[in-house]
Amino acid sequence: MERAEDAGVYKLTEEMAIIQTLDFFTPIVDDPYSFGQIAAANALSDVYAMGGQPLTAMNIVCFPQKTMDMSILTEILQGGVDKMHEAGVVLVGGHSVEDEELKYGLSVTGTVHPARVILNNGARAGDRLIMTKPLGTGIISTAIKGNMAGEGAVAEIVKSMSTLNRKASELMQVVGVSACTDITGFGLLGHAAEMVEGTNIGMVINSAIVPFFPEARELAEMGMIPGGLHRNRDFRKNMIDIDREVPQYLADILFDPQTSGGLLISVPEEKTASLLEKLHKEGITGAAVIGEVVAEPKGRIIVR
Ligand code: CO
Ligand code: CO
Repeated sequence: MERAEDAGVYKLTEEMAIIQTLDFFTPIVDDPYSFGQIAAANALSDVYAMGGQPLTAMNIVCFPQKTMDMSILTEILQGGVDKMHEAGVVLVGGHSVEDEELKYGLSVTGTVHPARVILNNGARAGDRLIMTKPLGTGIISTAIKGNMAGEGAVAEIVKSMSTLNRKASELMQVVGVSACTDITGFGLLGHAAEMVEGTNIGMVINSAIVPFFPEARELAEMGMIPGGLHRNRDFRKNMIDIDREVPQYLADILFDPQTSGGLLISVPEEKTASLLEKLHKEGITGAAVIGEVVAEPKGRIIVR
């Protein structure tokens, strides 16, 4: 726990460790079924980020029984079950409580070989950084709450957030990578900072290549900024140097808190082209090389 890893890992034998993780939150989209799918994909993601295989899950439900129709809960749970089925995960139980605010998520257990755990702090100077999903889901979800998001943008982020990181995880395991995390609440730069903190490496990120949903730019320029984005920036600003040439909307997007975001992978330079090609071939078309790991300055992130 002293290093902010994506999930807990406990070694059972020389050949097997279990990975455990827990994630739940309030709805970020209006459609209950989609919310269920997104919450499940999000909860499973930490296991994938560590190179593990999720096996079982338990539901965590907070539901306002007195004010909300039970059919909504049924749809949410169905979305979750369908996503678990897609992931080959068995739902083994759960717990629900009455609450004023609806919340849903999963506790997930997976396995991994103890020698093949992919930590978030293994990046080495010379590695390239690959990310697998576009940014901007936090900004667009904030716009949904204010009825400001276009239908197309909502459909795009729902599709992205409900996509499992399974394939990307399998491919990075095939290629062999140095480090990985998934981009969630702290945004790209917050999670990149976790990979760098307390290590002897730094990162250079080429902001012009970072993929994001086009509507996130418009919305950011209109000031549609989630509160978490400001907190992410304040928390990490001492570690990060953003070039003055980087436009403000883009600097914002780099700190945008993501739900069920993609993987951020540190891969040895000579394996980068192969991993990127495999990701693209498997339909992860948004995957891009967004920067590199450097020896100096240590513990810092430079955004160009
Ligand atoms: Co994570
Ligand atoms: Co998590």
